[in-house]
Amino acid sequence: MKHALLTYLVPFAAKAGSRSVDGRVCFIDGYAGPGRYIDQTPGSPAIIAALAGNPALRARQIEGHFVEQNVDHFRQLEAMVTEERQKDLLHVYHGNIADRLTDLLAATAGAPTFIFLDPYGFGLDFETMVNIFTNRPNAVGSPATELLLRFDAGTVWRMRGQLCNPNFPGKEKSQAKMDAAVGGSWWRDENNWELENKQYLEWFENRFLSEFTKRTGCGGWSVQVKHQEHHLPAYFMFFFSRHRAGLWTFGQTISKALETWRKAIFDEAWNAKQDELILFPLDTQSILERTESDLADSWVDIIEANLRRLLKAESRITVGDKLQEIHGETLGIAREMHLRKALKRLKADGTTSSDQRGDLEKKIITRQEPA
Ligand SMILES: C[S@@+](CC[C@H](N)C(=O)[O-])C[C@H]1O[C@@H](n2cnc3c(N)ncnc32)[C@H](O)[C@@H]1O
Repeated sequence: MKHALLTYLVPFAAKAGSRSVDGRVCFIDGYAGPGRYIDQTPGSPAIIAALAGNPALRARQIEGHFVEQNVDHFRQLEAMVTEERQKDLLHVYHGNIADRLTDLLAATAGAPTFIFLDPYGFGLDFETMVNIFTNRPNAVGSPATELLLRFDAGTVWRMRGQLCNPNFPGKEKSQAKMDAAVGGSWWRDENNWELENKQYLEWFENRFLSEFTKRTGCGGWSVQVKHQEHHLPAYFMFFFSRHRAGLWTFGQTISKALETWRKAIFDEAWNAKQDELILFPLDTQSILERTESDLADSWVDIIEANLRRLLKAESRITVGDKLQEIHGETLGIAREMHLRKALKRLKADGTTSSDQRGDLEKKIITRQEPA
């Protein structure tokens, strides 16, 4: 899921780099890891390095800054980078991202920069992450700054457990770390003990998103990443940007990444049942397609109903301004193709004069008045 979200880096580099001097686009990967995994699956540094070979990004200079604390991972990362075609633009640092971030932000000032923070457990302090945005230019037309952050959900519910255990060793110290990571003690002050862990994690996710966006003036997205549908989330992915186009495109990326995740979960469950099903071979592909198509239909129904309601109240709506209201519970799950289908239905029955084509983010949908 995490790496599926990094497919967003292609449209980021394409769009944010289109007005950048020499097409320069920078990536700071603060918890870089070894670059590739043992089975050669690309990790985040390999995904970033591969952008340079993407035909859609031929006019871009992809500059990577990779920080890794573990010496073995650092050596593997160094070895990976030396094999890359554009290795001169890929920089590898051994050490703690907390000690490097200020210099890296200075080195990338003036160019669109995407920051990926992917720690296990606690990462950078909340204030340090807020300062990424407050210290970068914010005027219209200034280069984009975007942050993708992994936040360990296991740490969150373990910390919650410590709250009710007066004898937990080292409790004060770890709680102070949690305060620093989330920008205050809100996570314990407003804790409601009647909430199940699942509900608490949802509350935590929304509150963290709102604390960060309030402080930075960014918009944001969050996604829960689970190993199985019925599990508690393993971690959250938070995305922050001040650029509307970035927020729109990341929303599309989340929807596609969730589709990939559902397929992986489905295949895994299916493979685990192979022995039981051997006597009754089934077409797994068509089952998955049917399930996906039922899901998509239900999202289109929801979006259609929301649009009808909105168009009753207002004669013109701009999609980008009303994302939440248009998508409702499908926000971050459905994407452009579902919205286009809903619009097509409304156009067909004369509810709107607007069609489903073109750039949807900027699209104005107009109510069709009776003749
Ligand atoms: C989850 S892994 C990163 C995986 C990588 N981002 C990927 O997608 O392939 C976290 C990495 O951060 C490194 N790390 C932990 N603390 C760090 C710190 N303070 N500064 C830099 N790297 C750190 C760990 O050694 C580990 O390799």
